[in-house]
Amino acid sequence: MPARSPIDSRALRQALGCFPTGVTIVTAPAGDGAFVGLTVNSFNSLSLDPPLILWSLATRSSSRRAFESAGHFAVNVLADDQVALSQRFSSQRPDKFDDLVVHAGLGGAPLIEGCSAHIECRTQSAQVEGDHVLFIGRVERVRSSGRPPLVFVGGRYRGLGAELG
Ligand SMILES: Cc1cc2nc3c(=O)[nH]c(=O)nc-3n(C[C@H](O)[C@H](O)[C@H](O)COP(=O)(O)O)c2cc1C
Repeated sequence: MPARSPIDSRALRQALGCFPTGVTIVTAPAGDGAFVGLTVNSFNSLSLDPPLILWSLATRSSSRRAFESAGHFAVNVLADDQVALSQRFSSQRPDKFDDLVVHAGLGGAPLIEGCSAHIECRTQSAQVEGDHVLFIGRVERVRSSGRPPLVFVGGRYRGLGAELG
């Protein structure tokens, strides 16, 4: 039996929620022209040379097998007018891509229109750590649109505040 963590999970969530993040939808092809995608804020930069990024996926995710076998994924960095998309892709609904305009990215990973940025990656590694699979991606193509990004903090969506420095 693994030792129980002395950290209270509510306190952990609250503390982690004090750290503002952007909001992304990570997508991949799922075979037969289908796609998988989910809202992700565990995305972060890892290395500039070579260009590497990371994100983590809950081991219980219905998309886990597709992400592990896809070979490529795309990080769609959401703009501040895309809250509805974030809500759609953080749900369990099977029709997340219905009526959505997407473009084919590298390796067949779909790119969503209207985002702040697209970061297209080849999967470098995927390893289980705790209750998540840690994905590391080698960046193969990037594009930024200049649209202001969506922010997530304290469990709520925000826009960028005033510049302070
Ligand atoms: C702002 C936000 C960030 C999230 N970040 C992650 C994340 O980094 N990893 C993850 O596995 N789930 C994350 N989730 C939860 C998933 O989006 C959600 O569980 C989704 O239904 C999973 O899709 P699936 O059914 O395809 O696994 C996040 C949800 C929200 C609202």
